[in-house]
Amino acid sequence: MARYTVVSMPGDGIGKTVLPESLRVLKAVGFDAKYVHGDIGWDFWCNEGNALPDRTIELLAQHKLGLFGAITSKPKKEADVELRPELHGKGYSYFSPIVTMRQRFGLDICIRPCRSFPGNPLNFIRRTLDGGSEEPRVDSVIFRQNTEGLYCGVEWTNPPAPVRDALASHSKFKPFAQVPGPELAISVRVITKHACQRILRAAFTYARKFGYKGVTVCEKPNVLRETSGMMEEEAKKVQKEFPGIALWSTNIDAQMMWLTKNPEDYGVIVASNLFGDVASDAFAGLVGGLGFACSGNIGDDVAVFEPTHGSAPKYEKLDPSIVNPIAMILSAAMLLDHVGEADKAKRVRDAVAAVVREGKVRTYDMLRLTGGPDVFKKGAATTSQMTDAILSHL
Ligand code: NAI
Ligand code: MG
Repeated sequence: MARYTVVSMPGDGIGKTVLPESLRVLKAVGFDAKYVHGDIGWDFWCNEGNALPDRTIELLAQHKLGLFGAITSKPKKEADVELRPELHGKGYSYFSPIVTMRQRFGLDICIRPCRSFPGNPLNFIRRTLDGGSEEPRVDSVIFRQNTEGLYCGVEWTNPPAPVRDALASHSKFKPFAQVPGPELAISVRVITKHACQRILRAAFTYARKFGYKGVTVCEKPNVLRETSGMMEEEAKKVQKEFPGIALWSTNIDAQMMWLTKNPEDYGVIVASNLFGDVASDAFAGLVGGLGFACSGNIGDDVAVFEPTHGSAPKYEKLDPSIVNPIAMILSAAMLLDHVGEADKAKRVRDAVAAVVREGKVRTYDMLRLTGGPDVFKKGAATTSQMTDAILSHL
């Protein structure tokens, strides 16, 4: 019997392309696992009115480990149009299955490592005073609170009377008090101490384990005094549990500017949901973009690993596929780390690093080509050729 069972959820579009590539790598590295398929994504919304069917939730609850490709999601109105006619008017409404999964299993710790691989032509470079350039080594790991903040889902257009009354009790609401309901939209940013402590402890623990000197909290406490303020206050308390690991603090806006000035100065970063989303996409842009951006969503009981890219529908039908499987493969390496198979995880990352360093096999994104069927004529590798190259180094 295999030691682990992993719920494999390819999802939509290129999720179906890249997830099987990561399984080839996990097999080659000798990961003792079996894989059970989990339904997720757009077809299940259209045909069943639920993009994350209960049977998939049950599989995750049972096996606790998931690999996820990507899903397609669409705004509410478009989603309603595509729902099977016989399901209309039965109370179905579209929810993102990833957000649902994160909330259902309390996957509140999102880890997004952004590390440059030497030799990647997409790496950030900086001009030097003598007219040359230099390529700082980026090694940042963003810890994003995954279940609260501005993504908690508490929002209204035309808020109901009790909400308006509550808002009116705040002096800062005065300028908005007369705005007609249909012209007023409110999204609530909910932050709890418990969730702050969990994401902060996860970040500090990681920093200590992997030898980072400090943790940077990236918020905006001078303006968002209550919510960002709580994160900052909790950070000071949690830091006391980790002597020797420094605590730094940046504002999200300034961090976006420093990102392209001195990215090598930032290691472990911790942020609330939206700021973590912003910071992790921005850092990913310095190290290769969506083709390289991996992530883990981790709770007490269940963990799901996924590339941060979406389903890229415009490339879904291309055969052979052009997309870069590295983000998915690095996500699978994070799964290996999570279950304590650090040696195997390292072997996978080393193999990716070797292919990138050699520079012989590059997908279209690494060559800065516009995606399409003719990228192969311009020297791009197919998705599976990239995996083959990685396998050849294992
Ligand atoms: P996307 O991430 O799917 O694609 C944006 C562009 O990035 C692509 O057109 C392509 O040029 C590039 N790209 C993405 N993955 C790549 C890869 N592995 N290799 C090379 N290039 C890659 O984002 P988009 O187009 O905004 O959204 C498409 C669909 O995906 C939407 O329905 C959206 O809601 C959904 N989505 C799902 C996510 C998820 O499943 N976690 C995350 C982001 C978007
Ligand atoms: Mg994002």
